Amino acid sequence: DVPKLLLGKRVLITAGPTREDIDPVRYITNHSSGKMGYALAQAAQKLGAEVTLVSGPVTLSPPSGVNILKVSSAEQMHTCVMQNVKNSDIFIGCAAVADYRPIQKNSQKIKKSDQELTLTFVKNPDILSDVAHLANAPFTLGFAAETQNIKQYALGKLQRKKLNMIAANDVSDENIGFNSEQNALTVFWPEGELKLEIADKNILATQLMELVAKRYTK
Ligand code: PMT
Repeated sequence: DVPKLLLGKRVLITAGPTREDIDPVRYITNHSSGKMGYALAQAAQKLGAEVTLVSGPVTLSPPSGVNILKVSSAEQMHTCVMQNVKNSDIFIGCAAVADYRPIQKNSQKIKKSDQELTLTFVKNPDILSDVAHLANAPFTLGFAAETQNIKQYALGKLQRKKLNMIAANDVSDENIGFNSEQNALTVFWPEGELKLEIADKNILATQLMELVAKRYTK
């Protein structure tokens, strides 16, 4: 049995990809499977937390004892998080949220023609940043999926988004990160950092939640 480091704490977690519709039959998305976020939800629940998981479209079964809310697009995920964050003690943004969406969703299927097709994209709201900038913000952990300059980019996100912690993922290594069983993370906070070596996502999730619990109570 694990010590209940997060007993009674309310933890809100996002997981999975988002899906940005182009027309009724097409969308753009990314390779997130939801495994990392679902593992974090289960780890937090085992540490005694009351967990709500806001999930993009994935094929995983919901973790036991966790309240799950399913969404599709980044805008839906943003609305859902903002409605549910108010009583949260801890927020973790593990979802791979699309930074952009097609400027319009065509109500009819786009027909093939002899011309080139150009799609224009507009920026999506940044869920993590909006949560961390709330007047009564919860303890906020973000992720940073990077293919280069990992530390520099992660620290940039930590500061710009006003986070308490950030877990950096080197997604140039295809054995870890998106849609793999294992992951490795370097976690940064204003006064320190910790490397979590490559391991199954559920093991890593427990290590990360224990670190969150430790920093949260500081
Ligand atoms: O789902 P898996 O297959 O298990 O893979 C796990 C993972 C690689 C997806 C995960 O570990 C991870 O790194 N998640 C974050 C992916 C990402 O979108 O990173 P980013 O560097 O683009 O975004 C930075 C942070 O801002 C993230 O916490 C993200 O959730 C958040 N964000 C980004 C854009 C946006 N519009 N809203 C956000 O909240």
